[in-house]
Amino acid sequence: MAESNSADLMDKIVSLCKRRGFIFQSSEIYGGINGFWDYGPLGVELRKNIRDCWWNDMVRRRDDVVGLESSIIMHPKVWEASGHVGGFTDPMVDCKVSKQRFRADQIFFSPVLVDGKTVGYVTVLESERIAEELQEKAETFKRKKAIQGKLEPVQPKDFTEAKPEEIPLIPSPATGEPGSLTPPRAFNMMFETYVGALRDESAVAYLRPETAQGMFVDFKAILDTGRVKIPFGIAQVGKSFRNEITPRNFIFRSREFEQMEMEYFIADDDDWAKWHRYWIDWCREWLISVGISAESLSEYDHPKEKLAFYSKGTTDLMFKYPFGVQELWGIAARGDYDLTQHGKASGQPMEYFDDVKKKRFVPHVIEPAVGVDRILLAILCSAYVEDQAPDEKGKMETRTVLKLHPRIAPIKVAVFPLLKNKPELVKKAQEVRDLLRPYMTVFYDEASAIGRRYRRQDEVGTPFGVTIDFDTLGEKGPELADTVTLRERDTMKQERVKISDLLGILLPRVR
Ligand code: GAP
Repeated sequence: MAESNSADLMDKIVSLCKRRGFIFQSSEIYGGINGFWDYGPLGVELRKNIRDCWWNDMVRRRDDVVGLESSIIMHPKVWEASGHVGGFTDPMVDCKVSKQRFRADQIFFSPVLVDGKTVGYVTVLESERIAEELQEKAETFKRKKAIQGKLEPVQPKDFTEAKPEEIPLIPSPATGEPGSLTPPRAFNMMFETYVGALRDESAVAYLRPETAQGMFVDFKAILDTGRVKIPFGIAQVGKSFRNEITPRNFIFRSREFEQMEMEYFIADDDDWAKWHRYWIDWCREWLISVGISAESLSEYDHPKEKLAFYSKGTTDLMFKYPFGVQELWGIAARGDYDLTQHGKASGQPMEYFDDVKKKRFVPHVIEPAVGVDRILLAILCSAYVEDQAPDEKGKMETRTVLKLHPRIAPIKVAVFPLLKNKPELVKKAQEVRDLLRPYMTVFYDEASAIGRRYRRQDEVGTPFGVTIDFDTLGEKGPELADTVTLRERDTMKQERVKISDLLGILLPRVR
């Protein structure tokens, strides 16, 4: 994790993303729209690299996974059969005074207990320190009301667990006063739209809240292509939409986001736990391969009693974000639920015929599901470092570096002529740029002092810098002619290499 792993790390990352063109608030000139983000010139490259790495590793380099791109708007019956129309809800609470809206499971409260008696209630919003914050609030409450007696430890619960008689007594997180919170109501998170010219119930359709259903609905069509044999997977990358009650933490929870999901179909009598473990390990290794530090990852097994009735097990790979340890990648063993549901609802059995065992069955599925945006944020958090480096005059200064893995860095190499007013240097530098450009993203920069140009590239994670100087022109003797300085971002070490060797050196390091 980054050296500056402090409370303000998130602010620094958000500010860097805006300043350097990674991520902007959507529609900012109109005041922004909550839960939507735009990816700028460097952001699109970073996203594309994450997607491409995943696609290459998940689909192209495997014999047992094929790709799919299904439509974003599907037949509304898909979402009835999948259970999303009936059950894709979050519990929502309104504060009638402040008009703010909360997710009930993100409001935590406790009775203030003095000598065994409840003398009031305290509330906090979900954080890393729920119990500590509630205890501090309980102490303040007791002191302000001058209540005598022994304060007992708080008993944190989330608002979905509040008894009806407690609800009027629990303070609103917005106002700090009790009496304004409504009881939780189920809120369906799917975005509705209309298909066609009519705007009535018969035309209602939904923006997909996950890409996964495309793989189930097209299961038969893919099976009929004859390309696949169980066990096999269908993978898809694409936008999903959820009308989140409280989008927050930058791009962590948005209303429009991109998912990379894979449904791995196994035989009904296969060892699901073995495959579940296999995919958890695969996902973990993949995250490390794109530069996420192993120490910031952990696993969370969903407790059996909280699983859906059909689920055999769900494990989340958790990442230590600056705002707390949160879900990054969910790996679920979903049994045969989805295919069975669509088989029943469509009247077309979603079965597989095993021609060796001469047996027909509905396959079971293991589903690794992750958001591109959450990976991108985890990568930025892992990569952000502030270290010390000498400035032009040799004085140490703070350097901001994104230590992005070269595989996913938006720019792979920056090319600099030492001076912009020397046509021979500029010409040579442009030749080097043109030599590398067909193979990798190259950024050509001739503005300002060379040290400042290095810093600008360090800040956006460019792993290599190539400088064309007077030695390149052969001014210090023919042995240095057509050589350049190759600088490595993390160590800042520089080596002299021949232009003709550059591609051979760089290509294996950026791929
Ligand atoms: N098909 C299963 C499914 O969609 P999920 O846990 O709801 O499961 C999978 O979502 C992944 O998608 C999450 O682990 C997370 O990485 C990402 N994700 C979910 N909701 C998101 C949101 N509102 N904003 C950004 N990413 C989100």
